[in-house]
Amino acid sequence: MSEVAKLERHDIVGIVTIDSPPVNALSAAVRGGILDNVKAAIADPEIKAIVLTCGGRTFIAGADITEFGKPPKPPALNDVLSAIESSPKPVIAAIHGTALGGGLEVALACHYRVATKEAKLGLPEVKLGLLPGAGGTQRLPRAVGPELAVKMIVGGDPISAAEAHRAGLVEEIVEGPAAGGEAFARKVLAEGRPLRKLRDDDSKLAAAKADRSIFTSAVAAITKKSRGLEAPFAAADAVGYAIDLPFDEGLKKEREGFLKLLTSDQSKAQRYAFFAEREAAKIAGVPDGTKGRKVERVAIIGAGTMGGGIAMSFANAGIPVTLIETAEEQLKRGMGIMQKNWEATAARGGIPADAPAKRMALINGVVGLENVGDADLVIEAVFETMAVKKEVFGKLDQFAKPGAVLASNTSYLNIDEIAKYTARPQDVLGMHFFSPANVMKLCEIVRAEKTAPDALVTAVSIARKIAKVPAVVGVCDGFVGNRMLAQRGKQAEKLLFEGALPQQVDAVVTKFGMPMGPFAMGDLAGLDIGWRSRKDRGIKSEIADALCEAGRFGQKTGKGYYKYESGSRAALPDPEVETLIDETLAKLGRKKRAVSDEEILERMMYPMINEGAKILAEGVAARPSDIDVVWLYGYGWPIYRGGPMYWADQVGLKHIAERLAFYAKETNDPSLEPAPLLKRLADEGKTFASLATEGKAA
Ligand code: 3HC
Ligand code: NAI
Repeated sequence: MSEVAKLERHDIVGIVTIDSPPVNALSAAVRGGILDNVKAAIADPEIKAIVLTCGGRTFIAGADITEFGKPPKPPALNDVLSAIESSPKPVIAAIHGTALGGGLEVALACHYRVATKEAKLGLPEVKLGLLPGAGGTQRLPRAVGPELAVKMIVGGDPISAAEAHRAGLVEEIVEGPAAGGEAFARKVLAEGRPLRKLRDDDSKLAAAKADRSIFTSAVAAITKKSRGLEAPFAAADAVGYAIDLPFDEGLKKEREGFLKLLTSDQSKAQRYAFFAEREAAKIAGVPDGTKGRKVERVAIIGAGTMGGGIAMSFANAGIPVTLIETAEEQLKRGMGIMQKNWEATAARGGIPADAPAKRMALINGVVGLENVGDADLVIEAVFETMAVKKEVFGKLDQFAKPGAVLASNTSYLNIDEIAKYTARPQDVLGMHFFSPANVMKLCEIVRAEKTAPDALVTAVSIARKIAKVPAVVGVCDGFVGNRMLAQRGKQAEKLLFEGALPQQVDAVVTKFGMPMGPFAMGDLAGLDIGWRSRKDRGIKSEIADALCEAGRFGQKTGKGYYKYESGSRAALPDPEVETLIDETLAKLGRKKRAVSDEEILERMMYPMINEGAKILAEGVAARPSDIDVVWLYGYGWPIYRGGPMYWADQVGLKHIAERLAFYAKETNDPSLEPAPLLKRLADEGKTFASLATEGKAA
């Protein structure tokens, strides 16, 4: 019998326990283990009911994603599930942790399900570019009705045990999974309850069978945000089969859909992204077993745009925050914005009605840096000038408790220099959050020259704890994300001088799948900041300068590269901007030419990839996948394209290097010359991914 699963008999109840760390994924061994043990329990005449449960931190978290793309090994999951469902003895799934994907499908094949209070149940396959491939799309609608099933299958978000209980997916909420499952099994036997096979129960489909719009409107609501993605639509089709076809036919169609997606480029990219995110949490060059420091209380300095958002992220995770400002007025404003934000979310039903008050209670707003004393982690989010950072870090040295991690949220400033203003540079690092900080998931963790390994581990693990995705980067201007973005910005600006319009450039970028183009992004951030900084440095950018001279600062003035109707964030092309560009070009004696969408795409993307190659060669990012994580979670890079470095590998580095060399010459721009690493890989016919096996970027 397999080592990953075992059968114990508690007089008339057989307990099948799966134990395959870390998450009991359904590898061939686990599938075999379940099948063997369930069969053994069925064969044992003493056993009258079977409980299926898991050891370790969670119930089965799904199919084993590492097996995808490899030749399938028996037994097939669907065969395991039919053995469970056709068992003559009741089988009860006892769930704790997360029952996800194939894990929930196992539970759906059982006759009953119980779950612990904190458990979560879901079919997140769409997030991997897939659809549930083992009956999930057929059984879940029968368990909870098509509306909730669509939400879970097409949206991919799990539900709580309480919601699962209300929806009839879970029979009972129990204390411990194994003991609770066993007690429930005894109840089923004592009451002589029938075997409930979801495949045979169409009762919850009746309403949608009579009125299909119940289903189609649920799908329309969920797929509104699925632009460019294939899986949500295929998953919706599969739920449709549950309504329209007999169970076995639906199951067959579901399987076909699953296999089609499994080999799709989108799913490959999404599975890559799943592992890239987890890889990023492993810090290159930190000794194995390095433990982080304890973080029970956090101090955040500055209650502005970023400080407020960061404080919200901590409070959302239940971690108390001391929020520090220079004066009552700024503090009050900052606290007020947080409260309003949470209240708006509660009004939309995003968080419980009592959450805003509870979360506000976790934030202690105070004036004066001397209040950092009890914090284990201090995050500075004050104005972006070295003078202010110097003043703050100098004082932190005096007030922060020994061993506290001291982080700066600076976007561009040198963390090595900031560290010098303290006598404890080993505790200093960057934690670069992205705006809006309560929403955006990325946190670039900036490792400075003297940052201690355990300080770094602390920052990475606390970032994960507050549901951020950390990526460790080195010190340089703009770190990984903004440094690459600057290359795109430079080309976007140049394209206007050559004849492209802002809306044309942005359209190409959004068609590619980015949430916004560079010009709409500029309007959102405000054009005046760059204008002032250019003036200070004596630099010109004639078109952007002309816009600002005309009072067009972006969304905040209702016009920038676009115009905005009052109260709306919709960017509308503005003929005035076209005239302004024409006039500026005429003044400079520049001739316009037709710029193709293909050229725009190449000039938006390839220079970023080139910069990515430099970042790798310098060791500012340890792995190409870390760069991809930065773009996926900080800038909304479309997940189905894996990230810029992954995408570059798909396009082919040889082609990219050639096009960069071409544009370098054509547009007389030496910054576009292919970087040495890109050139080398291109010449050798290699990919960025190959660096992992090479072990070294340079
Ligand atoms: N297959 C293989 N490995 C998996 C896995 C899976 N389904 N789920 C997690 N892992 C691995 C991770 O890669 C990680 O490995 P590492 O330590 O070597 O980096 C380890 O398990 C722990 O994972 P996390 O760091 O993510 O741990 P958390 O505790 O933060 O989260 C989790 C746990 C919520 C289960 C999260 O891992 C998760 O969401 N997993 C994926 C769930 C999923 O997508 N399931 C559906 C799979 S597709 C499917 O089931 C198809 C079916 O319909 C046929
Ligand atoms: P902000 O101007 O909105 O807020 C800064 C706040 O810091 C103000 O409320 C100010 O009163 C307060 N402050 C200044 N000196 C202080 C001191 N000595 N003690 C306590 N509080 C003090 O600025 P924002 O946008 O929040 O930026 C903060 C930092 O975050 C900057 O370093 C910025 O580069 C960085 N950042 C900003 C992003 C953005 O999109 N706004 C994105 C990522 C990082």
